[in-house]
Amino acid sequence: MFDLIVRNATLPDGRTGIDVAVRGERIEAVEPHAVLAGAAAGRELDAAGMLLAPPFVDAHFHMDATLSLGLPRLNQSGTLLEGIALWGELKPHLTQEAIVERALAYCDMAVARGLLAIRSHVDTSDPRLLAVDALLEVRRRVAPYLDLQLVAFPQDGVLRYEPRRDDPSCSLSALQLLERALDRGVDVVGGIPHFERTMEDGRESVRLLCEIAAARGLRVDMHCDESDDPMSRHIETLAYHARRLGLQGRVAGSHLTSMHSMDNYYVSKLIPLIAEAGVAAIANPLINITLQGRHDTYPKRRGMTRVPELMAAGVPVAFGHDCVMDPWYPMGSGDMLEVASMGLQVAQMTGQAGMRAAFDAVTTTPARILGLEGYGLEAGCRADMVLLQAGHPVEAIRLRAARLAVVRRGRVIAEQRPATATLHLEGRPGTVDFLHRG
Ligand code: FE2
Repeated sequence: MFDLIVRNATLPDGRTGIDVAVRGERIEAVEPHAVLAGAAAGRELDAAGMLLAPPFVDAHFHMDATLSLGLPRLNQSGTLLEGIALWGELKPHLTQEAIVERALAYCDMAVARGLLAIRSHVDTSDPRLLAVDALLEVRRRVAPYLDLQLVAFPQDGVLRYEPRRDDPSCSLSALQLLERALDRGVDVVGGIPHFERTMEDGRESVRLLCEIAAARGLRVDMHCDESDDPMSRHIETLAYHARRLGLQGRVAGSHLTSMHSMDNYYVSKLIPLIAEAGVAAIANPLINITLQGRHDTYPKRRGMTRVPELMAAGVPVAFGHDCVMDPWYPMGSGDMLEVASMGLQVAQMTGQAGMRAAFDAVTTTPARILGLEGYGLEAGCRADMVLLQAGHPVEAIRLRAARLAVVRRGRVIAEQRPATATLHLEGRPGTVDFLHRG
């Protein structure tokens, strides 16, 4: 007797007519229906040939700012710099309770969208470490249904940040605050080298932060070269220190938008260095397409990193959401299919392999970057999955498919009715077939 069987599913690799049987919190069998037809379970879900996928994973988010849109005022220009200024205005007014409340509300949206693992950066440029304590509390509260991995993110720069000399309670340096956040249980070391005062300070910040991560046995995920400056090359330094310190497979560079504008010859040297160092790349298509290229007239640069080229070199590339309804981005709803859709369109990845890779960039690839244990749709994996109203991954992206059921550790934790629409047209069908099977 199993606890749950999902019947007649299509898997992302194209297998059809598959039953997935769950006992406790683990998947015990993934077999053609004929093999498990006689098996009984406490609950059965009929997938009716729809796509059963491992849950979505967001490799890059800012949960301390999410859903704060309009506080204390709206971003009038829509630019990154006004967004950073707005966040600075908001910070003194933040309370731990309000951050927790907004973050939990976002996690509700995420769960309903089948998004069950998020890596969130958390601002450590605050002597109170208010957001750190808030998100540690959120991580504890959502643990039964969502894996929240936290990155210590020195938003104001580890060398640029200035402690307040007039107040002894605010005298810690940015590095001391970041280390204190790690002491409290934040998982990953972050950084923002392109925001430091000089290129030299940016390079030095990468060295200092990578050494902290190596000493503590932690992963690294830096905001890196999030600009249109073709000379912003901190990813080169990040790859260098990842290799020097033996951090291969544990380091990610987020954004990497300057790579869009770099000299092609230099990139031909850089990408193999990134691959050699085992550094992953995390692009954030929704934000990058709106925030980059703001100083351009026409033609305007797209401002997303070189996703297909990085993938071709074997670099793991994930697509992150980055922001939802905050000082930097007024849009978004926790839908990683929207992220994948924007990613593949901005990168012109409309070939079959490219569209498939875009689905992987919001599921299996970020799971690998985060180091999620037991992720996947195989016997022995954790029973986390999402049933989508689509026949295959590309269709799921095209339709932003409804999440018919979301399963966490063998339990159905969210359900949604199939999307449909009624038509009132003479001589036409009564409902619309968005799947269009012909
Ligand atoms: Fe970010």
